[in-house]
Amino acid sequence: MANPEEGHAPTSVKSGAATVTEAPSKAQTAAAAVKKAPDGGPDPAKVRRRIIWTCIWGFLAANLLMFMRFFFPRALFEPSTICDLGPPSDYLLGVSDRFKQKCRIYVVREPTRIFAIFAKCTHLGCTPDWKPSENKFKCPCHGSGYTPEGINFEGPAPRPMDRAHIEIDSSGRMIADTSRLYSWYKSQGGKDEFEEPGAYIQV
Ligand code: FES
Repeated sequence: MANPEEGHAPTSVKSGAATVTEAPSKAQTAAAAVKKAPDGGPDPAKVRRRIIWTCIWGFLAANLLMFMRFFFPRALFEPSTICDLGPPSDYLLGVSDRFKQKCRIYVVREPTRIFAIFAKCTHLGCTPDWKPSENKFKCPCHGSGYTPEGINFEGPAPRPMDRAHIEIDSSGRMIADTSRLYSWYKSQGGKDEFEEPGAYIQV
């Protein structure tokens, strides 16, 4: 009787006078093939395990990164629409571009009022430049021209530039707010909001 602990080793059985050596079973052959590649390379089972673990760690890492992104939202930080223009006494008659860069505002002082023009061309939104030598605003994009009051008179701009809400605070400073605009769709017979309270300051 064959010893069961002999494992995969070929088994010898005495049959009469001849000794017959049994070939290893199919399972034993397959197991041997799995352990060692025929060309003596790395163990395929190990390679397979490595690939599986790489996939698992990659998946976990991707999830971790996605989770971490919640702590860094892709928020758009808009600049403040409120602008402190200082006291009215800071301004002489005419157009001031002091707050063009910071607030996108031109402050205009007339004999009896001050208003803040929101420097956004009403054609496609470029920022018109103030040209003191020509006494007008000129849009660098398509050539629209505006009077010192911001009224369009040449080029494709369809209407005057808007004016920002403006008021005097408790300390006597002018505060403008570009989120509250006053418009005048003059060519379409629209209401002239430039005369509304808040569109200018009486001086
Ligand atoms: S954007 Fe100003 S003229 Fe076109």
